[in-house]
Amino acid sequence: MHVEARGISKIYGSGWLIRRRRLVLDGIDMALAPGKRIGIVGRSGAGKTTLGLILAGILRPDTGQLRCGGIDLWTAGRQVRRRLGQRLQMVFQHPESSFDPRWTLARSLEEPFRLCGRVPSMQDLSAMLASVELQPALLTRRPGELSGGELQRMAISRALAMVPAVLVLDEPTAMLDVLTQARIIRLLEKIQRDTGVTIVLISHDPALINSFCHRVYRLDAGRIDFQGNGGS
Ligand SMILES: Nc1ncnc2c1ncn2[C@@H]1O[C@H](COP(=O)(O)OP(=O)(O)O)[C@@H](O)[C@H]1O
Ligand SMILES: [Mg+2]
Repeated sequence: MHVEARGISKIYGSGWLIRRRRLVLDGIDMALAPGKRIGIVGRSGAGKTTLGLILAGILRPDTGQLRCGGIDLWTAGRQVRRRLGQRLQMVFQHPESSFDPRWTLARSLEEPFRLCGRVPSMQDLSAMLASVELQPALLTRRPGELSGGELQRMAISRALAMVPAVLVLDEPTAMLDVLTQARIIRLLEKIQRDTGVTIVLISHDPALINSFCHRVYRLDAGRIDFQGNGGS
């Protein structure tokens, strides 16, 4: 599925008494070509997370379109939006906030299936974990009993279970040590090659982005510029 952002803008209102409006994204055009690893860099506060949420179909832009296979996600009917939305997935910086601390990991991984009216078998769940190189024994644990790296792999595996066309990762390794970060980046590279999913990697770290991505964009002052082809 070809996903394309056209003329995306986002304004945040801030301040309680005097409402100040801030244009965070100002006419973003971006094509997410199938099967590519696309990087977005920019300093803190540049609007990277906001853009990520919009590309993942989670946040509605104030103007512009997110076109998925030629259909504008936010003007499509509810059924279509839900179906298209499932094919856009996002992994966040803090994996511990993506999981309910009271639930076993098995329960958390089942959740997206339940929402589509299916119950995965233990075998399905084990296969999901194998795809991110985790042992099935972790399924009976709770989030607090996993390392940050393991939990981030869980988050990636849960996102992949929906067979996304686009996987947005927002600073997925920023909270991890250097070695764990390198392992997860290698895993993402392998997953991308094996499944053909389009990956959008968001980071403030140009070295990471340049080594991982085919195409690199820089976000600055609400606008996006093509920076060049990465090393991949
Ligand atoms: N929900 C929100 N309401 C108001 N302002 C926000 C909200 N989310 C982010 N912002 C502001 O928008 C700007 C961009 O934020 P963000 O997208 O998180 O940038 P980045 O991920 O690049 O650090 C920041 O100035 C931030 O304070
Ligand atoms: Mg951010």
